Amino acid sequence: MQDTGEWQALIAHREELDGVHLRGLFAADPSRGERLTAEADGLLLDYSKNRLTDETVALLAALADAAGLRGWIEAMLDGEPVNSTENRPAWHAALRRPDPVPEVREELDHMAAFAAQARGGRWQSVVNIGIGGSDLGPAMAAAALDSYAHTDLDVRFLSNVDGAHFRSVTKDLDPARTLFIVVSKTFTTVETLTNARTARAWVADAVGPERAGSHFAAVTANPEKAQDFGVDADSIFAMWDWVGGRYSLGSAVGLSLMIAVGPDAFAEMLAGMHHVDEHFRTAPWAENLPALLGLIGIWNRNFWGWPTYAVLPYAQELSLFPAYVQQLDMESSGKSVRADGTPAGTATGPVVWGQPGTNGQHAFHQLLHQGADIVPVDFIGFCRLNHNRLGHHDLLMANLFAQAEALAFGAPRTDDPHRSFEGNRPSTVILVDQLTPRSLGQLVALYEHKVFTQAAIWGINPFDQWGVELGKTLATAIAAELTGTATPDPSRDSSTQSLINRYVVNR
Ligand code: F6P
Repeated sequence: MQDTGEWQALIAHREELDGVHLRGLFAADPSRGERLTAEADGLLLDYSKNRLTDETVALLAALADAAGLRGWIEAMLDGEPVNSTENRPAWHAALRRPDPVPEVREELDHMAAFAAQARGGRWQSVVNIGIGGSDLGPAMAAAALDSYAHTDLDVRFLSNVDGAHFRSVTKDLDPARTLFIVVSKTFTTVETLTNARTARAWVADAVGPERAGSHFAAVTANPEKAQDFGVDADSIFAMWDWVGGRYSLGSAVGLSLMIAVGPDAFAEMLAGMHHVDEHFRTAPWAENLPALLGLIGIWNRNFWGWPTYAVLPYAQELSLFPAYVQQLDMESSGKSVRADGTPAGTATGPVVWGQPGTNGQHAFHQLLHQGADIVPVDFIGFCRLNHNRLGHHDLLMANLFAQAEALAFGAPRTDDPHRSFEGNRPSTVILVDQLTPRSLGQLVALYEHKVFTQAAIWGINPFDQWGVELGKTLATAIAAELTGTATPDPSRDSSTQSLINRYVVNR
């Protein structure tokens, strides 16, 4: 894209904005704060506190057209093989259509029947065993929708191969009353299978090996392996190769969430996702929330050169949302070659990080306000609360508004550089009516399509993740040495080898 006139026009335009301050932009244009917004179905995107103008938005829209974004959206939403390196669709949108294809409908019905049973009293606790996309989505959403959750059922998430995680998740659970859902698209992920085997032994110790299998369900695209593990065929839920792990919350990967909140709330979440899918397909760029978020991401990353951005939900229930978006964005956009294998030629995926406000204010906001690097921020807040402590909520939201205001406008002082705030630090505010299953689904789809928008412009494939493979291969080889089934690799570097040696001596 960098050779196109559209990209070059944005470079020139960015240079024109050198020295322009958000204070000046707002002072010159009293309607800016209302105009530079977009709204869809209870979601407001206020992007006025970014370092941009109406002209920027027009130039970014032209860039989107030049990249063929509209065609890419159609191709993704219609199930074409947009995941080109694996030659398959990335058709998460098909999971949330009101008229899903029969295989999706069948699996949703299967989930609803299983969830109804699981909510019926046999189980006290449900533990989702999975990692990455087989953990972060349902874990994030179960925390987000805690106020909708079944009060007598404890739904937990076990991901890390660290035995300390198994211990902490199970330490106060009754194995006789615990259901495990093993979620693994491949059913080969070593962390998940290790935890699943440990869980099976833990249950078998309590109820006997012959009854242990009934404590397990599985979600996978590899049902034979799940059956080999000992899961009943009826308790195995399908995934399809056309659903990527980090895009899979709307599939049976969300089974633990459905058990927590019930099938109706799950359906509302899917409806929220679908709403954003259709909005993304049809809305003009200047009114298109995910496209705008992605185009602003491009503007900040490629034209201002800022290497990270922070996702700061002012909602404790969204405490896992930054981690969720981190996988979604960084596993999708952490690429240095285009889909055709040629060098990307531009900066691509930024580092994504964050924590819920107001906690972050007492941790890292110092750097956001006065640090040497600019960190664009996405603030997420809700107008209505899911509890009855309005005083708390007013204070929470006052802080969100104040942070965005302080970052943008600052408070410069010539007499004391330590207490001086230069301002001009960009942020976007996503203000949502209320945190509900529907709006959570909207937020998830908003970020999915933000990531897609950026990838279309960079020309990268956001749906593969080859970069995680090398570490897995090396770990497998080292693990074999640690268990004595292989001898050390003589070609290994001296640092890694002496660390392994020291570990073996001291473990
Ligand atoms: O980390 C790589 C990865 O493949 C993720 O993309 C995926 O979400 C995760 O591992 C888990 O994979 P699986 O569902 O196959 O166990």
